[in-house]
Parts: sequence; structure tokens; C-alpha cells
Amino acid sequence: MSNFVLVCADCGHTLPFAPNLPGCPRCGNEWLEARYDYAALGPNLPARVAARGKDLWRYRELLPVQDMAHVVSLGEGGTPLVKVVNLGLMLGRSQLYVKDERQSPTGSFKDRQAALAVSVMKEGGLTEAVVASTGNVAISYAAYCARAGIKLYAFLTSLVPPEKMRECALYGAQVVKVTGTYDRAKEIAQQFARQRNLYYDRGLRSVASVESMKTIAYEVAEQLALAQPPASNGKHAPHLWRAPDWYIQAVSGGLGPLGAMKGFVELYNMGLIGRIPQLACIQAEGCAPMVHAFQRGLETAEVVANPRTRIATLSTGKRR
Ligand SMILES: Cc1ncc(COP(=O)(O)O)c(C=O)c1O
Ligand SMILES: [Zn+2]
Repeated sequence: MSNFVLVCADCGHTLPFAPNLPGCPRCGNEWLEARYDYAALGPNLPARVAARGKDLWRYRELLPVQDMAHVVSLGEGGTPLVKVVNLGLMLGRSQLYVKDERQSPTGSFKDRQAALAVSVMKEGGLTEAVVASTGNVAISYAAYCARAGIKLYAFLTSLVPPEKMRECALYGAQVVKVTGTYDRAKEIAQQFARQRNLYYDRGLRSVASVESMKTIAYEVAEQLALAQPPASNGKHAPHLWRAPDWYIQAVSGGLGPLGAMKGFVELYNMGLIGRIPQLACIQAEGCAPMVHAFQRGLETAEVVANPRTRIATLSTGKRR
């Protein structure tokens, strides 16, 4: 059982967790962060998780599900961390690793998100959910909702390849095709969810989704420590787990790295790793609003109205 509170990033108000919170009840800010009792959890965490299975529930004390009986699982997490020697040679980096999330149940890291979100829905007694997606999130949600007996409405853009739409439908989701961008699909899905008071995954602003992605960081730190045991500096005992120098991920909304960085910060605060990695977020050339804003020194990124990229999962021109 995990023990945690939500803290408003703006006014500091604390409140208990519920699956579909729209934001802080005091100031209206949408950014709520889960905080756990790190001082109590940290010292025993490595020993405790070592005896458990490889899926992401090995970190259960630091996840927002109270009772493991509500967990909806297809074997998510525990993906291999592969040292990529040839690519490392090509790039002049001898210690390059890939976290192979293709090995997840439906083939993407979004299974972590769906597993957590659907589990908290199950725990909260919710029976219907809405998601907007460029493909992979909807497939993950469709699979986990099918397992949980939850009805899913998946709003997909016309950029999503037909086979991905079919996969969602095969799992039993109600697929709604939106002729327009991902941003338009999100607007329509959110409106639909609001009108019917249904769970809606708000990505970066959904506590369960952010919490799910931090398990990537926990796994990387554990796996890296096995691959390259941390060295003692003579004065202090070595940290038990190990952080990479850099964490690099391709982004659409950026949920993956946002959650992973929260994970690294938590591990650092618990004294399990010795540093927080530097972060690189990668955008596709035909849809790179943040890269362009950075290059031109803009305060606010300009919306890419018509993303042009073959990587449909990354075609997010605007993040709300
Ligand atoms: C494989 C893959 N990488 C990256 C992303 C971007 O995700 P995020 O919104 O977390 O940045 C997605 C989105 O579905 C994806 O499927
Ligand atoms: Zn607040």
C-alpha cells in the first residue's frame, strides 16, 4: 500500500488523491504532484524490490494504487536495458544504452501509463474512460481497459494508420476518428469527457500518468547499477543504484521524460543515486515547436498548425 499526498505546484495546498481530479481546489492550478514519504521509503527500497517480480509494480510503495488487488496488469515494465555497441561506436559513445520499450505488452512505453491509469480507475470504481491519441496511447488504453472491463472511447486523428485504429477496435474500444490534428482531437475528446463526467487522460497533468513514467527511471537506475556497479569514492559508500549522464527521449507532449525526471529526482532525494541526469527531448523535424522556439530565443513556442512527419506518434503541434 502506498502512502502519499498531492501537492499543488502553485499554492502548495495538499489534498488526497482521486483518479480524475481537474486541479487544485484552492487555486485552480492544474499541476498536482504526488509526494511520498521518501525518508521512510528510501533506505529499504533496494532490498525490498530486489525480491519482487520484474514488472513495474515492484515499486508499488511509490505508485498511486492503494490496494494491489486493484492492479490491472499485462506484464508492463521490466523491459531490457540494452548496451548498443555498434551505434555507440558510430556516435563515439562507448556507454550508450537503449531501454527497449518495444518489449512492452502492446509494443510501446505507453503501457506503463495505461496500466497505472486503468488501475487507479479500477480502484476508484470508474467504468468508462476517454483518451485522445496519435496511436500508441489508445492501443495501450484499449488493451488495459479490455482487461479491466472498462469502456473506452478513443479519439484518434486521421494521421493514425488504419492498422492502429483497427487494433484499438479489436480490443473493444469505441474508436472516434477526428479529421484534424491531434490538438483538435484532444479538444473534442476533452469536451466529450467533460459532458459525461468520464475519466480523461490529461497526459502531463494526470497524476497517474506522470507516476507511471517514473518507473522508467527506477528501472534504468537499477539496471545500470547491475551493468556498471557504482564505485566508492573512498570516503562514502557507493550509491546503490546508478543514474546515467543523460536521459534522451523522443517527445510529443513530453510525458515520458517529465515522469522519468521526477523518478530520478525522487531517487536522488532518497540517496539511491548520486546525481540527476541531464535531459534531452527530441522532436521530429516536421513538428518541432520547442526546438524552433529555443533556436529563435522565443518565450513561447509557436504552434505548428500542420505537422509534417512520418512519425505520427510525435505529431503534436501544440500542447495545452
Ligand atoms: C514510441 C513513442 N515515443 C514517444 C511518444 C511521445 O510521447 P509523449 O507524449 O510522452 O512525449 C509516443 C506517443 O505515443 C510514442 O508512442
Ligand atoms: Zn493550488
